Amino acid sequence: MQITSASITLIRPDDWHLHLRDGEALAAVVADSARQFSRAIVMPNLKPPVTTVEMASAYKARIEAVLAQQNLHSFTPLMTLYLTNNTSVEDVKKAAESGFVKAFKLYPAGATTNSDAGVTDLLGNCSRTLEAMQQYGMPLLVHGEVTDPRVDLFDREAVFIDRVMLPLRRAFPALKVVFEHITTKQGAHYVRDAEGPIGATITPQHLLFNRNAIFQGGVRPHYYCLPVLKREEHRIALVEAATSGNPRFFLGTDSAPHAKHAKEASCGCAGCYSALHAMELYATAFEKAGKLDQLEGFASLHGPQFYGLPVNTETITLERKEFEIPQQVPYTKDAPLVPLSAGEVLPWRFVA
Ligand code: DOR
Ligand code: ZN
Repeated sequence: MQITSASITLIRPDDWHLHLRDGEALAAVVADSARQFSRAIVMPNLKPPVTTVEMASAYKARIEAVLAQQNLHSFTPLMTLYLTNNTSVEDVKKAAESGFVKAFKLYPAGATTNSDAGVTDLLGNCSRTLEAMQQYGMPLLVHGEVTDPRVDLFDREAVFIDRVMLPLRRAFPALKVVFEHITTKQGAHYVRDAEGPIGATITPQHLLFNRNAIFQGGVRPHYYCLPVLKREEHRIALVEAATSGNPRFFLGTDSAPHAKHAKEASCGCAGCYSALHAMELYATAFEKAGKLDQLEGFASLHGPQFYGLPVNTETITLERKEFEIPQQVPYTKDAPLVPLSAGEVLPWRFVA
């Protein structure tokens, strides 16, 4: 990694948690990720969800067709399957043997966008499946929030650790688990201190903002995602984790595009669009912490190490040049897309 007062050059990063959507939305957003990242773990929460190797293969082909149409030849989608109450041992075996399915994703039923088909009782319904995943070395990517309506929205991640994560990892101590998009001090400290194969992804919004951002001068729907932004003490713990050099923490944008009108609505969708300027956002967060030198580990080294994949060979460069985030970018024929922090100015600009 090379850091000067004018630029940063680092090994090309990967995005270990990304929503690419499908159809015209996919065609609108995939170039943003392909510009900055070499590979991405692609989330399976389509409608209907991607639950089988056949569906993942078809989705991968649709992504690759768009990449080819747009002359984007150096981006690799890494596919995931959506875990349901009915995922079988055979499904896990086929996924492991496919080579292109890299993980299963756990959405507790009702936790977030398109999670209705998710799991209602993980250990009760999925034990044989989890056992097979452990045996095949197939990682489980976890949306770590309980859905119990009696639990306060802001406590759902911390409660998930006690109610689900601990029993899960006690039952399957060799299962590779990624605690996705952690948002709390409890999440960061759990991953730092736990035994066994565990990692965590951290989004740019959870490093840069606390929950005040959602309410600054009025309701700001473009800062609303799930798990929701938390208090400042949690943001500080996440920055500490991301910049610590601990290989358990790696980059996952959770970039989750929704049309402008679907966010700016009486019941707006959860998700922040950050693929446009992901590395600028992360560099800003790392620089604010005085830890730019830790960016390459977080963005480019720790993820491949966890997934057992080679580190990329190319590099990317960010220049110290102000970047004004556009108010919106094209999305579907009916609607534009509003990026995270639209209208704000970042001190870094991705050049190549
Ligand atoms: O904010 C979110 N948006 N969180 C998720 O877990 C899902 C995502 C989406 O797909 O829109
Ligand atoms: Zn996500």
